[in-house]
Amino acid sequence: MPWWRRGTVYQVYPRSFQDSDGDGVGDLAGIERRLDHIAALGVDAIWLSPIFPSPMADFGYDVADYRDVDPLFGDLAAFDRLLAAAHAHGLKLLLDFVPNHSSDRHPWFVESRADRTNPKRDWYIWRDPAPDGGPPNNWISDFGGSAWEYDAATGQYYLHAFLKQQPDLNWRNPAVKAAMFDVMRFWFDRGVDGFRIDVLWHIVKAEGFPDNPPNPYWRPGITERDRLIQRHSTDQPEAHAIAAEMRAIADGYGGDRVLIGEIFLPNDRHARWYGTRARPQVHLPFNFQLIENGWDAAGLREMIAAYEASLPPHGWPNWVIGSHDAPRIAARVGEAQARVAAMLLLTLRGTPTLYQGDEIGIGQVDIPPDRVRDPQELRQPGIGIGRDRSRTPMPWDAAPHAGFSTAEPWLPLNPDWRTRNVAAQDGDAGSMLTLYRRLLALRRAHPALSVGDFRLLDASDGVLAFERRHGDAVLRVALNLTHEAKPLPFGGEVLLSTLPGSAHETLRADEGIIIR
Ligand code: GLC
Ligand code: MG
Repeated sequence: MPWWRRGTVYQVYPRSFQDSDGDGVGDLAGIERRLDHIAALGVDAIWLSPIFPSPMADFGYDVADYRDVDPLFGDLAAFDRLLAAAHAHGLKLLLDFVPNHSSDRHPWFVESRADRTNPKRDWYIWRDPAPDGGPPNNWISDFGGSAWEYDAATGQYYLHAFLKQQPDLNWRNPAVKAAMFDVMRFWFDRGVDGFRIDVLWHIVKAEGFPDNPPNPYWRPGITERDRLIQRHSTDQPEAHAIAAEMRAIADGYGGDRVLIGEIFLPNDRHARWYGTRARPQVHLPFNFQLIENGWDAAGLREMIAAYEASLPPHGWPNWVIGSHDAPRIAARVGEAQARVAAMLLLTLRGTPTLYQGDEIGIGQVDIPPDRVRDPQELRQPGIGIGRDRSRTPMPWDAAPHAGFSTAEPWLPLNPDWRTRNVAAQDGDAGSMLTLYRRLLALRRAHPALSVGDFRLLDASDGVLAFERRHGDAVLRVALNLTHEAKPLPFGGEVLLSTLPGSAHETLRADEGIIIR
């Protein structure tokens, strides 16, 4: 049983975890200092959002050198120290691999844009203008506007699925593939335990670059990207073949290295990213449906059943409830239900990924307009994208700047940081942090909760109930997603409740329980 089936992943957003050098931005030495917190939480692996040299147009998702560390975060030696320290804490370490695009400052792109005949020209995606001089097709950047940028120096457009500072690499070029596979080997050789692969379903585009069809469900007020269905710009068969090659590289380092693919697709297409048993692709195609779905028992029940049913026999499920791109769970459902959500995340069948700060229940953070940094928000203001709200610094204690930094942090803290911080919740039996630690400890103690079989159970309206079974061990979970008491769907010994106290004639308002 590989570790990543039993284990849990904790996402660290390096800019906002811990600053060690007083520049208001988190760094690798800071993360190393806080490993005790991560280990004590009871997770098994850390995924670091990008740490590579970057102009930070998209905060590291614009990579200018795939084989080094940005000076803001440290250097390769600091990385090696962090990796060794993580391993000494019993934690795996995953990096963020960004294969779809580089920074426009990457030497490859600098060369590529220099003239039409240089050897790197075909490393990116260059096309002639349409007959009217406009972009080659109608594709829209995920961050709004055309996905094509005209480069007057050479009279062609280049493709960028995200910012124009993030030109898309041409994965149909074997030299690009070889160079990027070498990047994976570079980090595997250094000892990393795997990668989260950024926008993996984007990496190959349809030959001939046909227009994308309109999305009949689009309406003003949702992201401009969704005006079109990304039929020809994403999820191409050739991308699956590349994922299988990436997997072969990972497997070449032994069975313990893991690949997690960032993939947003409906179930049937999503499941294909596991590949086949004979030719597997990623171990875990990220499943974001807990983020995308509303918070009601009937809807979640249906979603979970459909997701489980969509998995290939060799496909291991996974669940994500927060990230640096998504609104905070406690902001979405409120603090009481965020406790229920924690129990759901850690008792469903499949590898959970936790996001930093959710373990102390950080909720809504309003970013003053003059402090907005997220390029996606800046390009499409007012429709509620606002990724900064989930990227605010970790509040560690009640010291100035919450112990995050000695300087003003790059983003504001959560407004309640003086009381909502790690130190304040440590040792408080009723805190969110204690709940997370107990859930993670229970998960480790009971294989039924991690690798056990899964079966939905009947319960009253507003209650989500299921069973986990491993050999003779049977655990049942009942989650009250409403603010009123509900009948208990089953009896037994309560191993954990999201609420204090132990009177269990009913399932209390906003209560989740695990019963043996
Ligand atoms: C992924 C990242 C997001 C980034 C985008 C472009 O979705 O999670 O933060 O902006 O890719 O790289
Ligand atoms: Mg720093």
